[in-house]
Amino acid sequence: ADAAPFTDEEIDRLVETFYARIRQHHRLGPIFEAAIGPDGWPEHLAKLKDFWSSVLNTSGRYKGQPVAAHQGVEGVTEGLFTPWLGLFHMTCAELFDAPRAAIIGQKAERIAATLKLGLFHRPGA
Ligand code: HEM
Repeated sequence: ADAAPFTDEEIDRLVETFYARIRQHHRLGPIFEAAIGPDGWPEHLAKLKDFWSSVLNTSGRYKGQPVAAHQGVEGVTEGLFTPWLGLFHMTCAELFDAPRAAIIGQKAERIAATLKLGLFHRPGA
């Protein structure tokens, strides 16, 4: 069976809803506000829409280095990936039916694991 592609509208809604919640989270919000700044959100959201389009639809829109980008984020810890993923799964469950939420959630889990390896488990990290 074909994997149903996700529309740009669905990806927009996922990214907008998720990061609105991230900004309200008592521990994650301040980290993002400090890194992204008052004027950086349109650019950040556009980048993350390209990222999820690349991940879910193999669109090739995102060109970047996620591990390197997170190395510069002040205050990020391995433990904070748990609430990040919790918020992400909650958002997906609200916006998508269960099979499609599971597809996105599994991608996020895999990428989070790769990021954690790169950030916290490299030799010398
Ligand atoms: C960028 C925080 C987990 C995907 C960023 C930025 C921050 C951030 C502050 C902006 C960096 C900058 O522009 O200076 C965090 C925190 C996380 C987390 C605190 C967990 C505790 C994740 C996960 C994913 C992800 C799990 C993917 C599933 C991205 C991407 C970018 C980004 C694609 C853009 C990187 C680039 O500039 O090319 N993150 N992040 N992040 N994040 Fe995260």
